[in-house]
Amino acid sequence: MTTLLRQLKPAFRIESIATHDNGVEITWKDGHQSFYHHLWLLDSCRCPKCFQRDTLSLNSGHDLLKMPLNPTPQEVTIDREGNLDIVWGGQETGHHSVFDPSWLRVHCYDDPALKQKSKTQLWDASVSIPYFDYHEVMNDDDFLLSYLNQLVELGVAVIENAPNDEQSFRALIERVGPLRQRYHPTNVFTMDRKNAVAQAIQHSYQLGRLRNHTDVTAYDIPTGIQFLQCTLYDNPDNDRQAYSTVVDGFKLAEVIKTENPYFFELLTTEYIPAGRRRLSVEEKLSENDSSARKYEWEAYRRNHLINLDENGEVYQIRYNHNTRIPLEVSYDKIQDLLAAYRRFSQLLQDPDYNAEFLLTPGQVLVVNNWRVLHGRTGIWSPSLKRSLLGAYLEEETFRCRRRILLGEKTGMSNLWLMGCSDRALEILADRYV
Ligand SMILES: [Fe+2]
Repeated sequence: MTTLLRQLKPAFRIESIATHDNGVEITWKDGHQSFYHHLWLLDSCRCPKCFQRDTLSLNSGHDLLKMPLNPTPQEVTIDREGNLDIVWGGQETGHHSVFDPSWLRVHCYDDPALKQKSKTQLWDASVSIPYFDYHEVMNDDDFLLSYLNQLVELGVAVIENAPNDEQSFRALIERVGPLRQRYHPTNVFTMDRKNAVAQAIQHSYQLGRLRNHTDVTAYDIPTGIQFLQCTLYDNPDNDRQAYSTVVDGFKLAEVIKTENPYFFELLTTEYIPAGRRRLSVEEKLSENDSSARKYEWEAYRRNHLINLDENGEVYQIRYNHNTRIPLEVSYDKIQDLLAAYRRFSQLLQDPDYNAEFLLTPGQVLVVNNWRVLHGRTGIWSPSLKRSLLGAYLEEETFRCRRRILLGEKTGMSNLWLMGCSDRALEILADRYV
């Protein structure tokens, strides 16, 4: 049997090494140079003494208290497989570390590619939303990964040809991971306008327009991914009632930052608090259930509308007109903060940024709820029938599945995949020629 060896791209192959007082310098076959401090290499060692292969975590042999702060190698070579091979000297004599070159490359301290965020494409109303086939996503990991990648790049996708039942809807979400536990007794909800109880307490069931918003803004950590499957759309008027709308919140943040940096500063530093209070609301576990369970919910959070990460980049938008509560802001900033909030609200309704489309039975709208705001056009005719299934995934569940799928593409072992950043995994998934 012949094994077809795939060739690594030059960026993942070592051209030469040089040792310095404090570390090892690697010149890669793509010309890039990386420097790894001896202490970093020793601290990151994955030999069986330092790192447990079964639990994939640091072993008790990795003793930070005994580790020299100025380790010195006795010999540094490239082994036959192209790995960096270090035999330590001094206090660490006998200690042997081997490092996978691809892993080293994605741990290079100063490779600008690693510092970039995952590829995101900002969009406006002209976006073409990617469509995926339900059965392909269910049966083929490549389709699953492509669709999850779209949720990073654009933050929105539609799955079509979904069977019209709750079990299939649940299976689609569980293809990624377990459903997010809601505060309600049910994790899958049915939005049917006929539901009078829901209509009384929930804007999305009511007549009129549902403004673009993110879900669960009054929680500590909002839901990561939202799924909405249309199971019924019957509109005898044949007009644009109850069309779905989506807006790229990251794009709006960029528009505001460009046109009014002070507004951007206010929306990233001042708080737009949110609250929700529902006590003893009854909810049936299923249509056929005779008894209903009660749930109680009393939420309050202070959040920024635009949330920045440690690099000052937008990572999360939180906006829901309906759950906003009185502003908590100093007297001198009230007007400016509300003006900034109003500008964001105005952009949310701007046809230039609002993508509008009809979700038909068998189609599932999937949005990244940390980025894309969703809503719908108005409903005014009592004869319109529309029903949706909805459920959520945690952001972490989504990220884990995508990281696993990216890891599988790398062809690397768990020993080296463990603990790589998302960006590193994206780069490694593409390491072959
Ligand atoms: Fe919603």
